[in-house]
Amino acid sequence: MSQAYRIGAGMRVDRASQYGEGGRWPADALTVPVDGLRSLTKLMKVENMTKDRLARETAIEESRKRFGIEVILFERDFGINSYLNRAPELKNPEQLSGARILVNRYHLLDLLPKEGRVVEVGVDRGHFSRRILDSAKPDSLTLIDIDLSRMTDENREFLSRNPSVEIIEGDSAKTLKSLKGKFDWVYIDAHHGYDFVKRDIEAIYKKIKLDGYLIFNDYTMWSPANMMNYGVMRAVNEFLNDNQNWVVTHLALQGAGYHDLAIQRRA
Ligand SMILES: C[S@@+](CC[C@H](N)C(=O)[O-])C[C@H]1O[C@@H](n2cnc3c(N)ncnc32)[C@H](O)[C@@H]1O
Repeated sequence: MSQAYRIGAGMRVDRASQYGEGGRWPADALTVPVDGLRSLTKLMKVENMTKDRLARETAIEESRKRFGIEVILFERDFGINSYLNRAPELKNPEQLSGARILVNRYHLLDLLPKEGRVVEVGVDRGHFSRRILDSAKPDSLTLIDIDLSRMTDENREFLSRNPSVEIIEGDSAKTLKSLKGKFDWVYIDAHHGYDFVKRDIEAIYKKIKLDGYLIFNDYTMWSPANMMNYGVMRAVNEFLNDNQNWVVTHLALQGAGYHDLAIQRRA
């Protein structure tokens, strides 16, 4: 049994109560190691951190370490990429040679073709849909989401009043497959699991006009906010490696690593 440490009255730092004695993690797995606590206590003095904050940061840190070990053991037993979705490197540097880095995705919206045929896949509250309308002034904007109840009433009202906007409730890949004609650009931001993103790409890439774009939100393999796997980067890099006529044109940065990547169809 590892040593637990009592920081202050009623502030024992272990998570046994949260996970339960019969829970997946043993009750002593998340207690604070005494050495670590000494240095944290020092830090607390330096930074004048409150005891409550110290206890809670320590609990997060211990969970993080435990999580890292679980992932290593899982991938040792079930194989590389059985839990995480590492993306393959791009094989051809030429596909990146004309790419620009932008401060954010709103700047990207300013640069994408105006008055085109546009789709946003994954709409959520509808705030970004309105930004697309304002910036790109599309001739037609198709909005697809599996659950439109997430859209705010104000955005729903505003968007449905616009004759160039079509709103469709349904699964992304199924709906994309059903769309007729070609598109100037499609913003893909629905389910971020690897298989889902792959399905979305397969459903639409042949319907992108020459010099048109696919844009991927959350071009990453990990969501730090949700502590979960994203398969966007893996699906996109695999697609680029298999389709050399597509090139990366823009990487739009986002402060938590949820960057956007724009790729363009060339001849
Ligand atoms: C991250 S949000 C979209 C955010 C929006 N594009 C923006 O930038 O504000 C993801 C959305 O995808 C939707 N979604 C998840 N899985 C889906 C699927 N299989 N088909 C369609 N939409 C899906 C969710 O309902 C959610 O509203």
